[in-house]
Amino acid sequence: MALAGGGIWLNEKYQKNGYGTEAFSSRNKYCFEVLGLRRIENGYFRGNEKSRRMQLKLGYRDEGIRRKKFLCLATNEYVDECITGLLKEEFIEWSDKIE
Ligand SMILES: CC(C)(COP(=O)(O)OP(=O)(O)OC[C@H]1O[C@@H](n2cnc3c(N)ncnc32)[C@H](O)[C@@H]1OP(=O)(O)O)[C@@H](O)C(=O)NCCC(=O)NCCS
Repeated sequence: MALAGGGIWLNEKYQKNGYGTEAFSSRNKYCFEVLGLRRIENGYFRGNEKSRRMQLKLGYRDEGIRRKKFLCLATNEYVDECITGLLKEEFIEWSDKIE
């Protein structure tokens, strides 16, 4: 197995201060360096640019789209899920670049 997924949600008043990037980055580190996972799966609703940018910045790659996968409770409409993933070797490459 050795793979996992998950999400993140910050209170609106704390968004756009770098906290999401910091938290997600710590999670990646924990998953690969402590838990020894080989892959993390994630995603974002199509159009959620802040989540997309945060993930791509941390080395995640777009892997595909699940059409109308979720009912968005905010809009009551079905939305596409953009699937992302980060492999352990990509995380190591990313870590080497920022050190
Ligand atoms: C998505 C989320 C976790 C990002 O955390 P954050 O602390 O707000 O974001 P950061 O400050 O770390 O910024 C991450 C990137 O998103 C960009 N960004 C932030 N808000 C943005 C916005 N409204 N529109 C476009 N880009 C945005 C930032 O500029 C940054 O990219 P950059 O470094 O290239 O400039 C947070 O906004 C959140 O919880 N949102 C609501 C719930 C949600 O969408 N969760 C994700 C579900 S997959």
